[in-house]
Amino acid sequence: MLQNASAKRVYVETYGCQMNVSDGELMEGILAARGYTIVENPEEADVVLVNTCAIREHAERRVLGRVSQLNGLKRENPDLVIGVTGCMAQRMGDDLLEKAPFVDLVMGPDSYRSLPQAIRGLDDKPQERKQLAVLAFHSEENYKGLEQRRSEGPSAWLPIQRGCNHRCTFCIVPYVRGPEKNRGPRDIVEEVRGLVKDGVSELTLLGQTVNSYSSEGIDFPDLLREVARVHGIRRVRFTSPHPIDVTPRLVEVMAAEDAVCEQLHLPAQSGNNRTLRRMLRRYTVEQLLEKIEMVRDAIPDIALSTDIIVAFPGETEDEFQDTLELMHTVRFDDAFTYKYSLREGTPATRLPEEDFIPPDEAQARLEQLIDVSRRIQAEINQDEVGRIEEVLIEKCGRHKGQVLGRTRRNKVVVFDGDPTLIGEYRRIQLERTTGATFIGAERLGSVGAVGV
Ligand code: SAH
Ligand code: F3S
Repeated sequence: MLQNASAKRVYVETYGCQMNVSDGELMEGILAARGYTIVENPEEADVVLVNTCAIREHAERRVLGRVSQLNGLKRENPDLVIGVTGCMAQRMGDDLLEKAPFVDLVMGPDSYRSLPQAIRGLDDKPQERKQLAVLAFHSEENYKGLEQRRSEGPSAWLPIQRGCNHRCTFCIVPYVRGPEKNRGPRDIVEEVRGLVKDGVSELTLLGQTVNSYSSEGIDFPDLLREVARVHGIRRVRFTSPHPIDVTPRLVEVMAAEDAVCEQLHLPAQSGNNRTLRRMLRRYTVEQLLEKIEMVRDAIPDIALSTDIIVAFPGETEDEFQDTLELMHTVRFDDAFTYKYSLREGTPATRLPEEDFIPPDEAQARLEQLIDVSRRIQAEINQDEVGRIEEVLIEKCGRHKGQVLGRTRRNKVVVFDGDPTLIGEYRRIQLERTTGATFIGAERLGSVGAVGV
């Protein structure tokens, strides 16, 4: 069986969030462990997997277009297996197989362990092939023993939790990824040690509400402290925390552990209490502001980012203005901004029809919000020009002779340098800003002694 599989080449194309990128690496790891070869483009593949996102309608439409395009490859290679995995596969299930009859497999995020079996089943007799849907939830699936196939380099994503126990009324995630499941802390720390041996020094812990993590009596602050203390780990980040689980203990660990970066992504969603209540976010604006104050008191230099949704059904113009006010009050370093997108099956779809905000109005709110958040970002970044920061170089810049990296506070910096610098830490002075990113220059001196 292994021999048959070893001839097969697999191409995985991923859309969506970091969790999905990490799942893409997991699928590659599972298949590589069974002798499959991972290839970098679909033309070379016997199996093409499109790993999808369902968070907004726009994301799904893009994927449907791409899947039809990939179907063109079946003309050259009629035995090609096309699989759709991830959240959209879970959400649409059999519907997707009907809409796209050339898709051979749909598989949800809880079933990747059985990916090799599913593909083998489809491959055995291509002429008699039937479409296959693998959509069961496995609440006991903790991904134990499965290894991601990571790209080389100093940074790694590490899922510590899957699924979500919240029911934010706009969000599809709990329905496609099931309830919260946490990995065992020993497995996680063991994996971190292994990653260090492979050259990883920057780690991002992943979970839908990553800071609600709890397993075997270890909660998120405990785990964060342990991971931050693994020898060789220089930077730890985590995403996304839920505001209600930002506790004094968490903040204490963040402030005390040198490896934990001075950066926090804290999804606010709205700056209005009635909207937050109708979104079922479980905090008020006042509570959110208190949490932010607690974080800033302990870590004054922290960079904050957020997610905001505009035009949630029923959001009035005044309520939207409250969101703008929140932006002015907090002054986030960065904001990911979205128009509400209706997701079938979520509670918000049951709101009265007249509550749904016309697209042009939603667009106008989004543009106002983007404008405010960009202006604030540019002001903050302008004030930071002149600082000397430790930058981990990630890749080549857009222009030849330049490289791009991130500071501990997750700010992007571009500077003159050659590709041999990728993976290294350097001391960079921020010389200019475009608003969102910095242009810097290397300064001599030890990266261990980075200061302002
Ligand atoms: N807790 C998750 C949230 C995932 S969704 C995490 O780890 O980040 C990421 C962001 O997408 C959310 O914070 C929210 O701002 C946005 N989002 C989710 N559902 C949406 C919808 N139906 N319409 C518009 N934006 C949405
Ligand atoms: Fe979605 Fe809310 Fe969970 S945004 S992922 S339901 S915390």
